[in-house]
Order: sequence, then structure tokens, then C-alpha cells
Amino acid sequence: MPNPYYLTTPIYYVNDRAHIGHCYTTTIADVLARYQRLLRGESTPPTGPSEVFLLTGTDEHADKVVTSAAANGHTPQAWCDRNAQAFREAFAFMGVSFTDFIRTTEPRHKDRVPEYVAALIASGDIYKGEYTGWYDEGQEEYVTESAARDAGFKSVISGRPLVQRTEACYFFRLSKYQDALRDLIENNARFIRPNARRQEVLGRLRQGLNDVPVSRPVTDDPATQWGIRIPGDPSHRVYVWIDALFNYLTVVDTPERRRFWPASLHLIGKDILWFHAVIWPALLLALRASGPAYEWVALPRSIFGHGWWVSNGQKMSKSLGNFIDLERLQAYAARYSLDALRWHLLSQGPLGGTDADFSHDKFVEVYNADLANGVGNCVSRVGNMIEKYFAGAMPPFDPAPLAGVIDVPGVCRAAAADALAALAEDDPAGSAAQGARIVRAVDEFIGATAPFKLAKDPANLAQVGSILGVCAEALRVASVLFAPAMPDKMGALWRTWTCAPPPGATLAALLEFGGPHALRVGQRIAKGDNLFQRANPADAPPGAEPATP
Ligand code: ME8
Ligand code: MG
Repeated sequence: MPNPYYLTTPIYYVNDRAHIGHCYTTTIADVLARYQRLLRGESTPPTGPSEVFLLTGTDEHADKVVTSAAANGHTPQAWCDRNAQAFREAFAFMGVSFTDFIRTTEPRHKDRVPEYVAALIASGDIYKGEYTGWYDEGQEEYVTESAARDAGFKSVISGRPLVQRTEACYFFRLSKYQDALRDLIENNARFIRPNARRQEVLGRLRQGLNDVPVSRPVTDDPATQWGIRIPGDPSHRVYVWIDALFNYLTVVDTPERRRFWPASLHLIGKDILWFHAVIWPALLLALRASGPAYEWVALPRSIFGHGWWVSNGQKMSKSLGNFIDLERLQAYAARYSLDALRWHLLSQGPLGGTDADFSHDKFVEVYNADLANGVGNCVSRVGNMIEKYFAGAMPPFDPAPLAGVIDVPGVCRAAAADALAALAEDDPAGSAAQGARIVRAVDEFIGATAPFKLAKDPANLAQVGSILGVCAEALRVASVLFAPAMPDKMGALWRTWTCAPPPGATLAALLEFGGPHALRVGQRIAKGDNLFQRANPADAPPGAEPATP
């Protein structure tokens, strides 16, 4: 696994406060980054130079930043500083091991964007013209005539009326790249995923592409003075979306970091697919074509547009009171543990494309099934029995399958292969699910072999030891698969079972049942605390308790 892995999340509008959507995308990106580090024998956080780069950050040049900063009595920059810090803290709270956090108001970004724009102006792919169209003010985005008509001239996102705008403006020659883009997306099934998203984009591409505005005018209105100026023409600024997309490049456009380009994966929500699947690759093609200075600018390998979290069956909204904000997520983490929250987001989230519903009932159901009665209970049963019958020392075991009983080592081998295959598809949920598969196999094996009954006769001790040894080694493999999603809980298990992966151990080796990192005979397997306390479905949802006077 020699190649660097460069993974990005969207950079979030700094005006907003982090909620389940932002935390979701960034947390699953974190799980993926942790797996990618393990694949390369790296730890999290990395202890040395890393081949895995996880980028997140904030998008700060939207017009509404100026208005809300004023409304809150701040300068735009101070307002951004404050809110960007809140995003950074939210992701730190979620346990996200990002490599870098980019803010588009940082010099390393805002000084570099004009260089790219200047190259595109020089090559003729950005040119000056005039634009009239329907504008969605909430999204900071023009809507095509037909899309505006289809939507009744209202924003499909906010429902607010679209407005007509005419302005002198710089255009990007998107039309020039329409065939190249179509060929690329048609011939490369992985470029846009999942496939339903790819088909949507292809459908729109077949209708043809117009050139798109990439600037906004600068006037006396302070809101129009916020943003990166068009080089050589200070009465225009770079449209916030173009500014924002370039973040993926500015961050690695240094001599030490250029080796990370092209991005391995841009992980985004489906709301911003068009910008990432069409505008961004076309900008990169144009930049690369602009001259030898940008020959290194290849296309990203993949863009993945996940689905939507809804809440209690409805689109989240503050007025409906079903909004899952950071505070609500923190309340879940306080009651059920951060790792349980991460597990829920990962295992139940809308990665595949269909929307996912967040509800307390579902949370408790998954928590009890997968964690409290799943891995938590299984680990404590096996640890307790090894403590009780073998004084907490790993017994010798025979991995040969027993007749008529589930073949646990075989399940581990299949699970390891499937987990690695899932990672080759950038699917962290699919990989983590293999841990749960192993736990189910161990539960079934314990049920079928009943070591607690066998142990009543001392003559069976060797057989009991072999059963428990197989269980413990299988659970060690499962713990490696769970660790990227639940690093704290698996870290706790590794301490009680003295089996933390040694530095440099690769995922493939760690997943080998009985392999180089297997539990050794005699090694300490202590009883340990329950990893996850059982939850009561009748409890009120966290964070929803009536405020105490
Ligand atoms: O669009 N479910 O930023 P943004 C799942 N600044 N994911 C959700 C979600 C939900 N209900 N709500 C939001 C922008 N997201 C631009 C991006 S990138 C160069 C510029 C996540 O703050 C999802 O990842 O509106 C979505 O794509 C992103 O937040 C939008 O964040
Ligand atoms: Mg948005």
C-alpha cells in the first residue's frame, strides 16, 4: 500500500454551527483515514510522517458572513475566527484525527487562489462577460432557467423565492470541457459514486453545459467586499464556490505536500455533487491545460456523494424541534459514550445514498444490539470465563473447526477479506460491519459449544480452553475492525487483554486469525469493565429533558 491517501470533507459554511450533517461527513472520513493509516502500518494520531492526509475546514467568503457578523457585532474576520474555532472544537469532540484544517481566509489559501485564476484568465478559460439569471440567495448559487421553472422559481433547499440578477462577470468556459467530462464519467465507474449519483450527473451532462459565472461584483455594499479579488480587476471577486473548491488544491500546493495530489476521495453530501463532480474536475482540466506550471494537476480519483440524515422521519428543522445539533450529539455521547455515537453515525448513516433517520428509539436499538448485547457482552463473557477457568491467562487453542459448529476462524478469514475489499471501495461502514459479523459468529459458537457447561467437569478443561481461545482470538480480530470507529473502547479492551497493536503493524497482518499478532498462550486476558452498559429504551432522549428551573 505505497500510495498516499488524500481524503477531503466539504469545507463547511462558517456561519453555521456544527450539526449532525457536518459531524457525520467528517466522522466517517475520520474512520476511513484511521483504516487507511492502519493499512499502512501507521497509528492514529500518526507518530511520524504519514501517507494519509485528512483535510477538513471552513468556507468563509460567503456574503452572508458579512451580514451575520454585523448582526452579531463582529467584524467578518472576527466572526469567522470564532465560528471556525467552534467547528474545529466540534470535530475534536467527535474524535476526528484531521491532518489539517483549512480556513479560506488564511493567507495560504487566499493568496494562492488568484494565481490559479490568473492562469485561467491567461489561457482564456476564464473570460469577462455579462450574466443574467435566477439566483438562490440562501445557497449563494445561480439556478438554470429550467431548474428555476421546475421549482416554481423557489429555492429547492429553503423554499425562498429565487431572484433575478444581471451583472458584469467573469465566466469559466465550462462548455469546452463537456465532452471530456462525459467521457471521463462514462468510462470510469468509480469517478462519481454511488452509481445513482453518477447517473444523475451523466443525465445532466447529456443536456449540454453552459459557461458558468465565477465572479461577483464588488460595490459599496460591504457584503460585496468580502472575498478574494479577481487578479487585475479589483471590482470583481471570485465567486465563493470557486474559491471554496480550490481549497483541496491550495492545502497541498507546497513542495512537501504536492505528492498528496490528486485527492484519493472527495467525500461530500449529495447537495453539493454538481460542484464537485462537474465544475471542480473541469477547473482542474483547465488549470492543467493552462501551461507547464500546472502539469501536476491531475484529476481526483473519486467523488462520493452520500445521502441525508433526517430526524424522526422528517427533514431536520429548528422550528420542528427535531434538529440534531452538536449539543444534542454531545448529550448522546455523554450518556452512551462518544464511541457509541460514532458507531451509530457510521453503521446507520446515509453513506449508500438513501437517507437515514436519526431517532432515539433507533439509537437505543442499535446500541443494545451491536454494542451492549453485542461486542460488549461477548467480550465480557469470554474475558470472565478465561479469568474464572484459566486465571486470566490465554489458554492454548486448536483452530481446527469442530464438526457441526460454526467455523469461527473461517468466519474471521472471510470477514478480513471482505473488510479489505470494502476499504478498496472506500467503504468504512462495510469494513466495520465485519467486526459485528465476527461477534455474531462468536456468540453462536459459544451458544453451540456451551463452554460454561463443559467447565463443570474438570476433564473438559482442555476443550474449554480451546473454545475460549478461539473466541478470544476472534474477538481480537473484531476489535481491530472496530477500532477506527471506536478507538477509545477498543483501546480499553486492548489494555485489559494486553493486545494493543504494536507500532508498524499493518491491518492485513492484524486481521490474520492466529497470525503474527495473535494472542499468545499465557498472555493476560483480564476481566475488565463492561465496555457498554445496557440502555433502557424507555429513557427520555438525551438532551431533550425539560430544562430544570
Ligand atoms: O455546502 N445529512 O457547506 P455546508 C448529511 N461550504 N450530511 C449533511 C447534512 C445532513 N442533513 N447537512 C449537511 C457547503 N451535511 C459548502 C461546501 S466544499 C468546497 C464547499 C454535510 O456547510 C454534507 O457533507 O452547507 C454536505 O455536503 C455538507 O454538510 C454541506 O455543508
Ligand atoms: Mg448547505
